Amino acid sequence: MNPLRVYCESFGCQMNAYDTDVIESILEERGHAIVRTPDAADCIIVNTCSVRDHAEQRAIGRLLDLSRHRDAVLVVCGCMAQRLGSALFDIVPAVRIVAGTDSYALLPDAIAAAVREGGRFAFLEMDEAGAYEAPASKANGGVSRYVSITKGCENYCSYCIVPYLRGKVRSRSADSIIRETSSVVAGGAKEVTLLGQNVIAYRDGRVDFCGLAGRILAETEVSRLRFLTSHPRDVDAAVFELMAIERRFCSHIHLPVQAGSDRILAAMNRGYTRETYLGKLREARRIVPGIAVTTDIIVGFPSETDDEFGQTLDLVREARFDAAFTFQYSPRGGTAASAMSDDVSAGKKKERLLALNEVVQEERARILQAQLGSRAEILLDGAAQKGEYRSLKGRTPEFRNVLVPPDSLNDGDIVPVVLKRLVNFTFEGELAARK
Ligand code: SAH
Ligand code: SF4
Ligand code: F3S
Repeated sequence: MNPLRVYCESFGCQMNAYDTDVIESILEERGHAIVRTPDAADCIIVNTCSVRDHAEQRAIGRLLDLSRHRDAVLVVCGCMAQRLGSALFDIVPAVRIVAGTDSYALLPDAIAAAVREGGRFAFLEMDEAGAYEAPASKANGGVSRYVSITKGCENYCSYCIVPYLRGKVRSRSADSIIRETSSVVAGGAKEVTLLGQNVIAYRDGRVDFCGLAGRILAETEVSRLRFLTSHPRDVDAAVFELMAIERRFCSHIHLPVQAGSDRILAAMNRGYTRETYLGKLREARRIVPGIAVTTDIIVGFPSETDDEFGQTLDLVREARFDAAFTFQYSPRGGTAASAMSDDVSAGKKKERLLALNEVVQEERARILQAQLGSRAEILLDGAAQKGEYRSLKGRTPEFRNVLVPPDSLNDGDIVPVVLKRLVNFTFEGELAARK
């Protein structure tokens, strides 16, 4: 088959960004070319998200827009493809292939068939018993890379559609994760983020998450290791202890709390209370002084009262989050919460979101300001241009953004800086002498 020009776009979480990379490398291996605009593409692939209604509406809007490219085979994959299946052919008539979250390996043949013979194809089967062997993503692709270690989720938080769309938890073999990490590091990556819906659930025989992280640090040359996401119920001292002894294991944890009231946390089926959550944070900070914590929070879960929402605000004041991603509850068909009445009005949800964001920003400013004057090692990962002024961007191990003057530095360098100023939650730093 003649090589095709394929254009990919990714919505949703880091898992989708990683999967899109994998899809691109599967297609490249078959001799196709990845192009950076849809204009001259023979095939357009959109990797989609279903986590909130808004995410689906955006993806559908974009698919309708991309339908203008009449000569290209339009493909939808990812979570919305898994959820809506062949109904997508009616919603966006130009769609030719719908590929669910376990069917990416089938894409090259399906695309070839659609180009050759026309027609429509839907692949929605989930392979929940199968081994999870992600084909390695491209070796060469930047300073900071994702490596997926698990697929799926079995936590069934009552609001969440992900377990229905990504299937049961499957862990990739430690050997294959190490091979991929070595390969992206050989291709220039300095930092690797291990991905999964709940990475702490990782298990390969006797190797658990900490065992895996320990092996990666021992057997690869990766300069920085991160992970996303961990469930507060599962994370324990072992993770923090590894962080405390391994300088390359970055002192940042994304630990979604979701709500501050015990009644709402129970209704969400989160498996922890406000106090056990705060207890984990205390433990983290005792073992890893200076660890940065970020979180996700939902407002307007069914039946959430003003007082219960107030408990979320109090928790944010107490928890010292570096940052929080905040969302208005969006009912997802088929989840346990969708059987409850979505009784917090749209106006009230919006009001709570604004009030929450205000407290989140206040706390964020307070925590970042306390860092002024301190030293940090930043990993440079690109340039930032503000008018005439060009600077380099970097991140601290705590995932804080820092700009430094360009000097003679390169992407991928890890350099010591002193944090001098804070502008819009980004530090401006000065290069410091190495200790
Ligand atoms: N596996 C990850 C989360 C994936 S979804 C974890 O458990 O941390 C990312 C975030 O979206 C969730 O943490 C939650 O805050 C939010 N979210 C999920 N379902 C939602 C819904 N139905 N309405 C609003 N926000 C939702
Ligand atoms: Fe969804 Fe909960 Fe699983 Fe996260 S842990 S993906 S919020 S079900
Ligand atoms: Fe969205 Fe699926 Fe990720 S629903 S958040 S793309 S797992």
